[in-house]
Amino acid sequence: MKKILALVLTGIMAASIVGCGAATETADAALSTAGAAASQAADVASSALEDAGVDTSAVGEKVGEVSSEAQSAITAALSSTALSDGTLTVGTNAAFPPFEYIGDDGNPDGFDIALINAIGEKLGVKVEVQDMEFDSLVTSIGNKIDVAIAGMTVTDERKQQVSFSDPYYEAVQYVIVPADSTIATADDLKGLKLGCQLGTTGNFIIDEIDGATEQTYDKAIDAVNDLINGKLDAVIIDKNPAEVFVSKYSDKLKAIDGKEFEFDTEDYAIAMPKDDTVLQLGVNAALELLRTDGTYDKLVEQYIANYSAD
Ligand code: ARG
Repeated sequence: MKKILALVLTGIMAASIVGCGAATETADAALSTAGAAASQAADVASSALEDAGVDTSAVGEKVGEVSSEAQSAITAALSSTALSDGTLTVGTNAAFPPFEYIGDDGNPDGFDIALINAIGEKLGVKVEVQDMEFDSLVTSIGNKIDVAIAGMTVTDERKQQVSFSDPYYEAVQYVIVPADSTIATADDLKGLKLGCQLGTTGNFIIDEIDGATEQTYDKAIDAVNDLINGKLDAVIIDKNPAEVFVSKYSDKLKAIDGKEFEFDTEDYAIAMPKDDTVLQLGVNAALELLRTDGTYDKLVEQYIANYSAD
């Protein structure tokens, strides 16, 4: 058995050495070489097992469960700067339920936190979450934090500074108004006092509304409170948090679907250092594995479908 272990380790080392070369080769080439090395190692290991008289069919099935391509992308990602210390340091802004909020134990919790923990598990690294201002997440990537998960929408402007994973959730901005408000169309928003969280896509929408007076907040809930106090006419914020906030004050507020205002749909993705293709492919592979093994759906059910506002 020692011989087999040594062979497997040699294979893993070969794959990770190839992964290190990714900086000079193109990432794709490195990945396919890594994949080939990994499958070669698997062949060697399984023939060694056969030599030792072990029935390898169960092993084969197990290996077949995880896509070998995803597995080699993950192996390669471990050589990225972000993961080389064995810890994925994640930035979030834990004031955005149900995606992130401060849990009963005082630590960040929510769908995004559970998702990034599951990704860390697939990658085989520790996950450390840091709560910070939403507006400083993008500039902290690659220095204070490795990646950010914060219900962050993929935008062309952000793409100039960071790279994004594959999208993991579709969203749209909602408009929160007083329960008795007659606001119903994009034209109705012109010239109003509008609130939003600083640096969010809701903020960017307000920037474009003719004659609007814009009031920005570090926390979206503070905008909602100012709406309740009559200091604002409306708040623009993502659908799910809008529904959570309004459900707490349903006698005073209502949330209107942004489609009525012709707002575009948005995609949430994990932001990471720009052009770190090896990390990006590893995170995408982990995400894909979580979708195929049912974890993703389970987390949507647990954190988003069953979120209770109290
Ligand atoms: N989706 C919006 C954006 O990307 C808002 C995200 C706010 N997230 C948060 N955790 N506060 O700009």
